[in-house]
Amino acid sequence: MILPIYLYGHPVLRKKSVDIEPDYPGLKELIANMFETMYKAEGVGLAAPQIGLNINLFVIDASPLAKDEPELKDFKRVFINPEVTFNTTEKITIEEGCLSIPDIHENVSRPSDLTITYFNENFEQVTERLTGYKAIVMQHEYDHINGIMFVDKISPLRRRMLQNRLNSISKGKVSTSYRVKI
Ligand code: NI
Repeated sequence: MILPIYLYGHPVLRKKSVDIEPDYPGLKELIANMFETMYKAEGVGLAAPQIGLNINLFVIDASPLAKDEPELKDFKRVFINPEVTFNTTEKITIEEGCLSIPDIHENVSRPSDLTITYFNENFEQVTERLTGYKAIVMQHEYDHINGIMFVDKISPLRRRMLQNRLNSISKGKVSTSYRVKI
């Protein structure tokens, strides 16, 4: 089932999410719906707050980006209750976008090497090191479950320049190919 994607300005995107238990009602179906919603909107990641749920869950399938970034070829994951430790303070800068902030793309700098411990879709605990693009894509989604959006991380000047467009998005004055909720 395709779910509406909550737009910038909705308070659910600004709340800190909570951990879930393996018996969370309808978890398998929820994960399937999140992938379906993400694919329909042509995104590479979707976090639970973007569909209105403040729980520590996000999905990623960055394989469509593999033609430019081969390392992303098999980067499809479900992350539940993740915890991140950074292995470097060195940052790389990559242009980001977000299904909750349509039509805005900005450069964001983030650490390029981290270790993440999480539960996968079968609620098995996994620890893995992510570097480069994988680390960047993951952090964007990880921010969502902490109420942070990528426009929080751009320069104050760029942000000021975008303010009118962000205000419009929060009022639903934006056109998208997918269902949204303001
Ligand atoms: Ni996003």
